Amino acid sequence: MTPVGAQAISVGGRYDVHVGPGVLDRLSGWVTGGRRVMVIHQPGRTALVAGVLEQIRAAGGEAHAHEVPDAEAAKDVSVLAGAWQALGLAGFTRDDLVIGVGGGAATDLAGFVAATWLRGVDAIQLPTSLLGVVDAAVGGKTGINTAEGKNLVGAFHEPRAVLCDPTWLRSMARPDLVSGLAEVIKCGFIADPTILTLVEADPASASDPTAAVMTELISRAVAVKARVVDADLHESGLREILNYGHTFAHAIEQVEHYAWRHGDAVSVGMVFAAEVAVRSGVLSPDVLEHHRTVLRSVGLPTSYAGAPWEQLRAAMARDKKSRGSTLRFVVLSGVGAPQRLEGPDEQVLIEAFTAVADAG
Ligand SMILES: NC(=O)c1ccc[n+]([C@@H]2O[C@H](COP(=O)([O-])OP(=O)(O)OC[C@H]3O[C@@H](n4cnc5c(N)ncnc54)[C@H](O)[C@@H]3O)[C@@H](O)[C@H]2O)c1
Ligand SMILES: [Zn+2]
Repeated sequence: MTPVGAQAISVGGRYDVHVGPGVLDRLSGWVTGGRRVMVIHQPGRTALVAGVLEQIRAAGGEAHAHEVPDAEAAKDVSVLAGAWQALGLAGFTRDDLVIGVGGGAATDLAGFVAATWLRGVDAIQLPTSLLGVVDAAVGGKTGINTAEGKNLVGAFHEPRAVLCDPTWLRSMARPDLVSGLAEVIKCGFIADPTILTLVEADPASASDPTAAVMTELISRAVAVKARVVDADLHESGLREILNYGHTFAHAIEQVEHYAWRHGDAVSVGMVFAAEVAVRSGVLSPDVLEHHRTVLRSVGLPTSYAGAPWEQLRAAMARDKKSRGSTLRFVVLSGVGAPQRLEGPDEQVLIEAFTAVADAG
């Protein structure tokens, strides 16, 4: 039976992202008939992993568990090799299944394992972090890091399904949860104003994994990413709007040596992009103010003065998304109306930075 309040968001008709309390029950449909299932999981999600293994066995599947190191340490070629070895030893064939359990790092690795084993076997993702469900588990990007940089090796491999019960997020550290909300709010600004209304109506519930509104916020953010990713298959370039706030965010992350949480940097980055848009004459100042009120309501940062402008400007020029020395930004002309801004006036950028650095 469909749990009350659970949602299924279709990604281009190819697979569904199931969000809501009790969605784990939906797993059994994929694990019948003696299918071998490798559950690749990060450390720490013990009760969830036990529940997944039990569910596989109850449905007649052959359950295997494979723990990988936490966070980015999972996205390493040695860990990948360990997972391949586990699949080989357990005799995994083309008809078998890989399940990823954990944050975005664990699901990125598990997806890449599935993409590469026998040139591609089925994957199902069970993201346990907010960023993991609204960003990493949707869109089919999988991969690992190398010494030369993050996500340099990977493959497109869409999962058969994504399941996320928001109550799995209960154990997340609050700053990580709030940071993930920045990507949700980003989806609100680029495509779905209802997200902003829901967050502002009750900011405390918006960061509470047990509140009903969490299911709706996740579902709406997933729906935005699903729509964009799918449209991008036909009209290349649309996916870029998901990078709203990310040009300046990547610069902060670089100069802070990745000590800043990604979502926190995106939060400031969106304010910066809105400052640029207002000063370039494409956005009205009240939408800029709206950025500050929504982001602050959940405790996200809206200012950054940790490094001089020259350093941030140089970091933006190095970003892989920029073309030569010309900076490219996604800006808004209104809520839900993103557009590209290429090579904005340097004076505008400096003024936008000054505003973001001042507005403590
Ligand atoms: N594939 C994509 O399209 C895509 C998109 C965005 C991000 N990513 C990737 O996702 C990763 C970031 O995701 P993330 O923020 O989930 O990071 P993460 O996987 O490193 O998890 C962050 C921390 O949260 C912990 N955690 C996860 N779920 C938890 C829970 N329920 N309770 C307590 N702790 C929990 C993890 O153990 C880890 O320590 C990066 O590797 C990034 O490259 C991929
Ligand atoms: Zn992001």
